[in-house]
Amino acid sequence: MAGAGDRLHAGAVEDFLTRDERVVLHSGEHEILVLAAAGRIFAVGNRCTHMPMQLRQGIVNHDSGELFCNVHMGGFSLATGAATTLPCELPLPVYRVEIDDADVYVRVPSAPAPRTAPHRDVT
Ligand code: FES
Repeated sequence: MAGAGDRLHAGAVEDFLTRDERVVLHSGEHEILVLAAAGRIFAVGNRCTHMPMQLRQGIVNHDSGELFCNVHMGGFSLATGAATTLPCELPLPVYRVEIDDADVYVRVPSAPAPRTAPHRDVT
């Protein structure tokens, strides 16, 4: 179970910005995808809200700052988590990213991750 204000190390800033690094972190019920778009680093839930497929293989639009699920192309704003394209209607959880020196950290709340779609382990 995640403690209050858990802070998870995601990797080096440079790897996200120059190598399109994508990292999935786990803390309690939280499954978090960390990735970069348009020179910024974001942390959002790793499960699509249409069906609980992983978003790690999703497609990033660097101009709009959106992440599109590679299964049915539902879209999300990386900044707000809002669903932007059907069939997704429910938002993704968004996590606070902290840059400390040259490393990326993600702040994870102690509250359980929201359930926005029936969860099962589908990869
Ligand atoms: S599973 Fe992601 S859009 Fe359908």
